[in-house]
Amino acid sequence: MMLKPEELERRLPVVGLGRPLYFFTSIGSTNDYAKELAEQGAPHGTLIVADEQTAGRGRAGKSWSTPASTALALSLLVRNEGVKPEGVASLNGVGALSVAQAIEALGGQVGIKWPNDVLVQGKKVAGILVETAWEQDRLAYGVIGIGVNVHRGSAPPADVVEVPATDLETVLGRRLNRTALLVDILRATGRWLEDLGTEKLLAAWQARLMYRGQRVSVGSPEGEIRGELLGLSPEGKLRLRIDGGDVRTMGTEVRRLRALEDGSK
Ligand code: BTN
Repeated sequence: MMLKPEELERRLPVVGLGRPLYFFTSIGSTNDYAKELAEQGAPHGTLIVADEQTAGRGRAGKSWSTPASTALALSLLVRNEGVKPEGVASLNGVGALSVAQAIEALGGQVGIKWPNDVLVQGKKVAGILVETAWEQDRLAYGVIGIGVNVHRGSAPPADVVEVPATDLETVLGRRLNRTALLVDILRATGRWLEDLGTEKLLAAWQARLMYRGQRVSVGSPEGEIRGELLGLSPEGKLRLRIDGGDVRTMGTEVRRLRALEDGSK
């Protein structure tokens, strides 16, 4: 069944988010549309929701599939001049934590694979794409794009993804209502946006962080880096004790993160 815009209209805004609402039966990418609206001066809290995306985008230039009537695809426009370039990783944390808590409220156990892949039972159920525009070091706007595989048939097949994917109904074993889930995610987003840059946000994000204390491999422009994943830096970046002993903080240069379960060197 398609998402019902009138039901969304009735339940939004929550905590100041979701108005104005732009709903599309089908669109290229909600993030692209959000950026266009932002350039035209749309306010904080503007929400774009689509039942289907035909050119959905993922992190690192990958594509993201949103088949009709199966998934959630939304983009939230945020304007917060207080966010500094070094603190923008935390917007990823806001997105991941909001989805994580909405899933936890349904009984799921969630792991966040840094920065913001949301996994249940070791499989990816949601991804977040944060895009920002700056005026010098002032945040002009940020777009938090969230994609959630909800109904069966929403997750891409294993041969096209880096992290094995599934959908929420499969892992939770019951039917879900996408509108209710969207409203829950947005409510959590409103709360976490107020906690941007705080210890509280960092602690909640870190508590769900996967591979903490484990050896991992990280792809970077300089090649593969191996070490122990220590946790998050105060800005929400990844802290590693790289083989050899140095502690390093890594951000957007991280290409691929995976655990070295076999402990190989
Ligand atoms: C990732 O895991 O690579 C991030 C995926 C982000 C997908 C969402 S769906 C809504 C929004 N619009 C897009 O084109 N992408 C994001």
